[in-house]
Formats: sequence, structure tokens, C-alpha cells
Amino acid sequence: MRPSLLLVAALWAGCVSCSGLEGLSHLQVRCRAFRYPIAVDCSWAPPSTPNSSGPTSYITTYRLGLALQGESRPCLQPTPETRRCAIPDFQMFSMVPYVLNVTAVLPGGPSSTLLPFVPERIIKSDPPEGVRLSPISGKLLRVQWKPPSSWPFPEIFRLKYRVRYKRHGSAHFRQVGPIEETTFTLRAVRPAARYCVQVAAQDLLDYGELSNWSVPATFLRTPSR
Ligand SMILES: *[C@@H]1O[C@H](CO)[C@@H](O)[C@H](O)[C@H]1NC(C)=O
Ligand SMILES: *[C@@H]1O[C@H](CO)[C@@H](O)[C@H](O)[C@H]1NC(C)=O
Ligand SMILES: *[C@@H]1O[C@H](CO)[C@@H](O)[C@H](O)[C@H]1NC(C)=O
Repeated sequence: MRPSLLLVAALWAGCVSCSGLEGLSHLQVRCRAFRYPIAVDCSWAPPSTPNSSGPTSYITTYRLGLALQGESRPCLQPTPETRRCAIPDFQMFSMVPYVLNVTAVLPGGPSSTLLPFVPERIIKSDPPEGVRLSPISGKLLRVQWKPPSSWPFPEIFRLKYRVRYKRHGSAHFRQVGPIEETTFTLRAVRPAARYCVQVAAQDLLDYGELSNWSVPATFLRTPSR
């Protein structure tokens, strides 16, 4: 089979963001759009046969579409040895996938790994930031947070959020959401300091996946009266 047919087969198998393209894959390459739509960022682990004298260098290119004769552009690497690169401008909502080509320059000869991806499907923002917990009154706790600072246009590409919380010592989280605001009021039976609260973000239109959970909320003490 020609490589392009293998790619098509892999895409049909739903293998868009995974890296295990049988017969083509040599490096574990991952791409993530955490600063959509400014760039797609890709990284990979070192090759499993690292018996070379110096660090391995890489050539990285990408093109739109599965056709091998399509125009290739460089994926931007800080240095040829850096195991990550950025695709700075891509078409949004493209009907065909992009293909990243990471070529490891090894003593035994170059070895290329191809990874097809659709930018909208690999959106995964960084976790929300500045998660804070403050008592409102009686048994109400306010949770507040900010969108991840790496998410460039939160007003245009809106995020929605999930909040999970548990009492310290409890094994299970309860989860609420999706919430479009950056605040949530938690009906609590214990003081704020006794809760572990975390927030995760996802694209409002359900592209991609949920971010990792944020670091637990810090408890804002009310000024002593
Ligand atoms: C790794 O390289 C060293 C020196 O170049 C050589 O002696 C050794 O046999 C190599 N090991 C493998 C697994 O190729
Ligand atoms: C991947 O990139 C390498 C190095 O630029 C090139 O030699 C190879 O033909 C490319 N493979 C495909 C399938 O485009
Ligand atoms: C998300 O969590 C996974 C597993 O803990 C970790 O490997 C990864 O680096 C995290 N990603 C971000 C963006 O924090």
C-alpha cells in the first residue's frame, strides 16, 4: 500500500490523534492545540534506539491533505535537536486533515513518522487558573477562576467549565457543569478550608477534549471583623 492509502486507512480507523500508525510510526508524536487558533504544538519522545554519539536531530514539516505531492512547510523548532515544534498558521475547520512529518536523523539513516490531525479535534486547553474559594454567607461558597492565560482569545473562542469538589478526607468528587461563567456557588456544609475544588475547561462548542483539572482552589480568608 502506498503511504497515503495507509494514512487514509488509519484515519478511517479513527486514529486521528493517536500516534500508533502501524508501519509508519517510529516516534511517539503528539499534537495539541492549547492556544487555538494561533498554533498547533507538537512534541515527541526520543527514539527508542538512542545509541548515537550526540543528541538526535529532527526535520519537521507539515502539509494540508494526505496527498504526498502537497506543499510542505516547516514546523517551527527552536533548534534541530528540540523535540517539539509549532505549526503557526493553519486553516480553521479544514475539510481534510493536516499531516505532520517528523524525521529523526539517525546514524542508520533517517526515520520518518507521520501524524495526521485535524486542529479542532486536538483542542485541549491548559487548565483554568487562579481558582479561588471564598465564603459568601452561611453555607455558600463562591468558586471563581480565570480562563488559562495561554488561551489567546477567550472572548471569541469561548470556553465552558466543569467544577469538581470534595470534602477533605472524602474519596469521591462531585462534579457540576458545564458552566459558561467563571464563577460558581457551592452549597457547602463545612467551612471553605475543608473543601478541595478544581476546575477544568473545554471549548464551548465541544471541540477537542476537556483540559486537565486545575490546581486545587486556594481559600481566600474573609477579612477578620
Ligand atoms: C552502542 O554503541 C557502542 C559504541 O559505539 C557499542 O559498543 C555498542 O555495542 C552499541 N550498542 C548497541 C545496542 O548497538
Ligand atoms: C518526511 O520528511 C522527510 C525529510 O524532509 C522526507 O525525506 C520524506 O519524504 C517525508 N515523508 C513524507 C511521507 O512526506
Ligand atoms: C495533563 O495531565 C497529564 C497526566 O497527568 C500530564 O502528563 C500532562 O502533562 C498534563 N497536561 C497539561 C497541559 O497540564
